[in-house]
Amino acid sequence: MRKKLPKILITGGAGFIGSAFVRLAVKQGHRPVVIDKLTYAADLARLDEAKGKFKFYKADICDEHKIKRIFRQERPQLVVHFAAESHVDRSILDAKAFIETNVLGTHVLLEAAREQGIKNFIHISTDEVYGDIIKGKFAEDSPLSPNSPYAASKAAADLLIKSYIRTYNLPAIIIRPCNNYGPWQYPEKLIPLAILKILRGQKVPVYAQGRNIREWVYVEDCAKGILRILQKGRLGHIYNLGSSEEKQNIDVVKTILKTLDAPGTMFEFVKDRLGHDIRYSLDSKKAYRQVNWKPKVRFKDGIKLTVCWCLGHKDWLSARWENIAKLYNNWR
Ligand SMILES: NC(=O)c1ccc[n+]([C@@H]2O[C@H](COP(=O)([O-])OP(=O)(O)OC[C@H]3O[C@@H](n4cnc5c(N)ncnc54)[C@H](O)[C@@H]3O)[C@@H](O)[C@H]2O)c1
Repeated sequence: MRKKLPKILITGGAGFIGSAFVRLAVKQGHRPVVIDKLTYAADLARLDEAKGKFKFYKADICDEHKIKRIFRQERPQLVVHFAAESHVDRSILDAKAFIETNVLGTHVLLEAAREQGIKNFIHISTDEVYGDIIKGKFAEDSPLSPNSPYAASKAAADLLIKSYIRTYNLPAIIIRPCNNYGPWQYPEKLIPLAILKILRGQKVPVYAQGRNIREWVYVEDCAKGILRILQKGRLGHIYNLGSSEEKQNIDVVKTILKTLDAPGTMFEFVKDRLGHDIRYSLDSKKAYRQVNWKPKVRFKDGIKLTVCWCLGHKDWLSARWENIAKLYNNWR
């Protein structure tokens, strides 16, 4: 007889990375409980593939009453916490929702997890909590030095979790992935934004001279890394999840232009993002060694898969255009 898998509660499961994780968990035989507030960034269509194999609650993680009720009712053993406001530019315009969801919402979940005696609370943090680095790489014990309100709210949550591990012995793990890309990403983020702009026949906006460097991991590889850490990671530890595939933003945009067979000049430099981090770079040896995870999809292949997905989902991308245009019109 097949061993009964532990029940996982996943927050933010209708989002970009959370949905990739739900799809993967379901494929592995899990029947997770998903909580999501369904903000502008969410879409339950991302979970169509997993239909009937997860239980869904529309809930705000800041709603203590409702969250505790769901935990008591569902009695999950494991929590994987993705729910967050996730777009740096939005946090620069107005940080309130970032503080509420990313900090206060995380606190509500920690209390619910404590009350329920959760066996492992996985917090999905970000490489942005370390700030930027000109040379070298950040390891898990590098100091936190966030530069945007988004990154600061994520770092605050990390510190809160660390305090719960030490004070209450909460079994928890913090995971810090680098930039994700792939199918279903909301087109406010660089890669799908560039694709959508080109499909609309418009120039791709590139901050400053496009020299900023990001490390890119394909979303399905990231989801696999998270599942691996959930299964084999050490409680109380932090894991970076990076790919070592570092790219200047301008090169990412040029690769997309080439993949779409668009003119190489179809971009424009725009006024830089305030406080823009120059380079992110993670040392991910710990995850490679301790849980035997390595990303499989190379950037050159992942970008083709992503462009291909976008070409097959033009309506999905276009439906989000007005919301993005509003954001960037405010900006300039
Ligand atoms: N996208 C990246 O490149 C990246 C990189 C590193 C870390 N992360 C982290 O990974 C996690 C997931 O990122 P993503 O890109 O999938 O984000 P996303 O914006 O696509 O999805 C976030 C999800 O959280 C939900 N949500 C937001 N506020 C909520 C609330 N108050 N209560 C319940 N649900 C709420 C949204 O409805 C959405 O479904 C985030 O914690 C983010 O900080 C993202």
